[in-house]
Amino acid sequence: MASHSRGQFSSKLGFIMAAAGSAVGLGNVWGFPTKAASNGGAAFLVIYLVMVFALAFPMLVAELTIGRYGQSNPISSLKKIWSKQPAIAATFGLIAILTASFILSFYSIIAGWLMGYAVAPSLDFIGFADAAIWVTSFSDSRNVVLAVLFSLLTVFVVQKGIADGIEKWSTRLMPLLLALFVLMIVYIFTQDGAMEGLKMYLIPDLSHINGGLLVDSMGQAFFSLSLGCGSMMVYGSYLSKDVNIPRTAAQVASIDTGIAFTAGLLILPAMYVAKQNGVEIFNDAGQLKSSTDLVFTVLPSMFDTMGGIGILLGLCFFVLMVIAALTSSISMLEVPVSCAQDELNWNRSTATWGIGGVILLVSVIISLNFGALFGLVVDVTTVYLQPLLGAVWAVFVGWIWHRNKLLGEIKQGNPEIADSLFWKIWPWYVRFICPVAILMVFIYPLI
Ligand code: TRP
Repeated sequence: MASHSRGQFSSKLGFIMAAAGSAVGLGNVWGFPTKAASNGGAAFLVIYLVMVFALAFPMLVAELTIGRYGQSNPISSLKKIWSKQPAIAATFGLIAILTASFILSFYSIIAGWLMGYAVAPSLDFIGFADAAIWVTSFSDSRNVVLAVLFSLLTVFVVQKGIADGIEKWSTRLMPLLLALFVLMIVYIFTQDGAMEGLKMYLIPDLSHINGGLLVDSMGQAFFSLSLGCGSMMVYGSYLSKDVNIPRTAAQVASIDTGIAFTAGLLILPAMYVAKQNGVEIFNDAGQLKSSTDLVFTVLPSMFDTMGGIGILLGLCFFVLMVIAALTSSISMLEVPVSCAQDELNWNRSTATWGIGGVILLVSVIISLNFGALFGLVVDVTTVYLQPLLGAVWAVFVGWIWHRNKLLGEIKQGNPEIADSLFWKIWPWYVRFICPVAILMVFIYPLI
């Protein structure tokens, strides 16, 4: 068990910002718009919203509560809940840690691309045109180098520890990102073609809804709220006892969903504007040519049409996105690091560099086998493992955890909860609906 004292977030706002920082990242600006664009736009949006509020939000409450109760890393917290079966609890904790680590390994690659796009205009400006092309063109060397740089940044922040590192980074920059989005949306709406994208995004064509879309949108909701693999348990363990968990979870879920929605409001119209400007977005059959780098085609093409101001805006946007990705990646690395600290008694710096190094190695392997591994790792971890682990946590909370202990924990910071509507619905909901619904979504496309 922990021999060192546990870090804590210094204020409620600090926690909300850190948890929102974990949630807001590539999932919102790269994952969500890309999936929406390839799944009929509004149809995906509608189902996604249902998934967030019906499945992801209740599970966010569950994960934060498990973490705060356990006051420890996911392995110990889960063992504390299922004290009769510590080995099984620890095994699930371990799967969660591995999932978080694999997610980080592909996340660094995409975040590396963001770094490339952030520096490209400046490189161009000071005369390094070849370098600017290199950092924005797909190649093994570019993917590896930038992923390494991003991983080092992540390790650097995590190594500095909880309040210093994580909170400081998360606190002020999210509102700035949102402001920038609004500015870009206003601009893109003045361009030819934007309305076509807007229609696609906001007017649902329900014929697009099918089993695959359900599975995709559920995975996206779990990914975007950083669920299933322990990040929110770890953050919950750093949360002070006077915080109202359901309310905080609702705030975090709203911020995250608001930013994803806003990103869609920019990217889908920008896609059609880019098409008008001659960028190849769709193939002859009208399908997206490439989904992985859609955002990286569409946005630079938009900044190009804006002249000098576009260079500045592009720079700000990509720098802020790198920071948003960083506040997410640190929450992933924090999962294995907190386990190594508590369970193996490693000190923070050994744990961070050691584990960060191994994950980095995996990133390099994925980069060098991009075609074979990237999509596979993304799908296995985000589409399948995250929701399935979510179902496991639902079983922990709903079936294994003693109801009075659960109430005791969630009551702290929220003394009136025993009489609230939330308490009448949520435990029952997590017990029956969440695990069954998650499994049904997976089974539905098979039948
Ligand atoms: N939610 C983040 C995003 O949208 C990614 C993320 C952070 C994450 N921590 C996580 C995903 C833990 C899965 C598990 O970009």
